[in-house]
Amino acid sequence: MRKKIVAGNWKMNTLPAEGVELAKGVVAGRGEVCSCVNFIVCPPFTHLAMVAEALKGSDVELGAQNCAAEAKGAYTGEVAASMLAALGCKYVILGHSERRQYYGETSETLNKKMAQAYANGLTPIYCVGENLDEREAGKHFDVVKAQIEEVVYNLTEEQFKNLVIAYEPVWAIGTGKTATADQAQEIHAYIRKVLADKFGAAAAECPILYGGSCKPSNAAEIFAKEDVDGGLIGGAALKAEDFLAIGKGFQK
Ligand code: PGA
Repeated sequence: MRKKIVAGNWKMNTLPAEGVELAKGVVAGRGEVCSCVNFIVCPPFTHLAMVAEALKGSDVELGAQNCAAEAKGAYTGEVAASMLAALGCKYVILGHSERRQYYGETSETLNKKMAQAYANGLTPIYCVGENLDEREAGKHFDVVKAQIEEVVYNLTEEQFKNLVIAYEPVWAIGTGKTATADQAQEIHAYIRKVLADKFGAAAAECPILYGGSCKPSNAAEIFAKEDVDGGLIGGAALKAEDFLAIGKGFQK
């Protein structure tokens, strides 16, 4: 049985006090959703300590949106994975398309970030996904394959057991345009096959989340697909009610 996960990527939204309110809202409503669903919230760095406090005593887990590629030292403005772990983070989103696109993250950097995450006991939520041109040219399978081979294939079997993948087509992120449930299933099944080519049976246990304009109205249909194990949610994670309603989308 694979883990069912609904993770909220708050991106650069909310002030700290608003983030605390949002986290409290998720904790307060969490009981209305099956305990089989694992909720994770990923606030900005500045909110982590306060949100960790707000989550205390609940099963809602904490994640960060990024970490440094180095362990510590003279890297002005960076935040080390050890610092995130010390604040109570269990997860870290790595390789989000916004970071690849706006901050030039390459597979080389991401290999280092993955190593830092594992060295500090964090589970990476590793994002893959094609842009619109690549989808229209029919290259989406090759794009996600390369993103996996260049980074995930470098993991040990032990590390792979602690990995979450998020498939996020860039054309669906924040656009209101969602992949259809069939499109999601098609590529999730492909991703699982690429993982199985390297890690064998363990690939059947790896949660693969869908991300890109996932909302209460479409989550149930997408989550019903065999190889979709939940969602990485942006915009709809900023309202506790919507975020929780997405969790209710699990019917399997
Ligand atoms: P979205 O973002 O739900 O706002 O499309 C998803 C993401 O980028 O993680």
